[in-house]
Amino acid sequence: MPPLFPASASTMASRVDALYFFLLAVSAFFSLLIAGLIVFYAVKYRRRSPDAIGANIHGGLALELTWTIVPFLITMVIFVWGASVFFAMSRPPDETLNIYVVGKQWMWKFQHLDGQREINELHVPVGRAVKLIMTSEDVIHDFFVPAFRTKADVIPGRYTTVWFQPTKPGRYQLFCAEYCGTRHYGMTGAVIVMDPTEYQTWLSGGRQEGSLASAGEKLFADLACNTCHRSDAQGRGPVLNGLFGKTVTLQNGDTSVVDEAYLRESILNPAAKLTAGFQPIMPTFQGLVSEEQLLELVEYVKSLQERQ
Ligand code: CUA
Repeated sequence: MPPLFPASASTMASRVDALYFFLLAVSAFFSLLIAGLIVFYAVKYRRRSPDAIGANIHGGLALELTWTIVPFLITMVIFVWGASVFFAMSRPPDETLNIYVVGKQWMWKFQHLDGQREINELHVPVGRAVKLIMTSEDVIHDFFVPAFRTKADVIPGRYTTVWFQPTKPGRYQLFCAEYCGTRHYGMTGAVIVMDPTEYQTWLSGGRQEGSLASAGEKLFADLACNTCHRSDAQGRGPVLNGLFGKTVTLQNGDTSVVDEAYLRESILNPAAKLTAGFQPIMPTFQGLVSEEQLLELVEYVKSLQERQ
């Protein structure tokens, strides 16, 4: 028989479960109370003779205040509690292990910053906060690991993030939780949580393809991006060193934070958010680079930050 409840293997699991059981208890309590009272009053105030007429009652201030204030307080508890769990789930800690995820019909592709690539399997160390930066090559998918109580849409043309901190080594089922075509049912995999030392061994055991950033650096040169984006401020494009995380002023006077989504858009649709002081001369790379290559380029630009 399958277990009734998924394993509890992340820091968020017990918080989500506590809220869930509270909601379940509140629902059960009021369902029983109301059903019980219906039966009780139906019997107590049943018609005893054919010509009996019920008493006419007007108002009942105490009763009305009670059935207004009590549910109000209960819903406020649910709201505040739910919001605190929601914020904790949507705000990753400052220090995270970042991993890129690309969903496609019908598989999960993972890219570690050190260069390891995986399909339908994700290896992570126990006890560390992991942040996934996710996108899709085709349709909407949804990354779902029940044991972590982690679930987030994976959307084409956009980066979404989700984070979790595994608490127990083991192998946990991964699902796609958004109907995405014929073989949606087969879009599953596993998250393998390992001891930190085992994880290090696993990391170094992979094929030596070089880091994601170095792959991006090579691609950056292959696509001749470096002819315009030079580091000496003499190029026709903005200097990329130290750019990630900054706020840039655009041609139309708006500002934009340089994050993964901004870099992605600027590669695919350079004119969309043109930096002030530059000409719209950059060609689009739509169709020329895959989602994986975009991630390499993004990671390369991010790495220019750290080298300063
Ligand atoms: Cu991907 Cu369902």
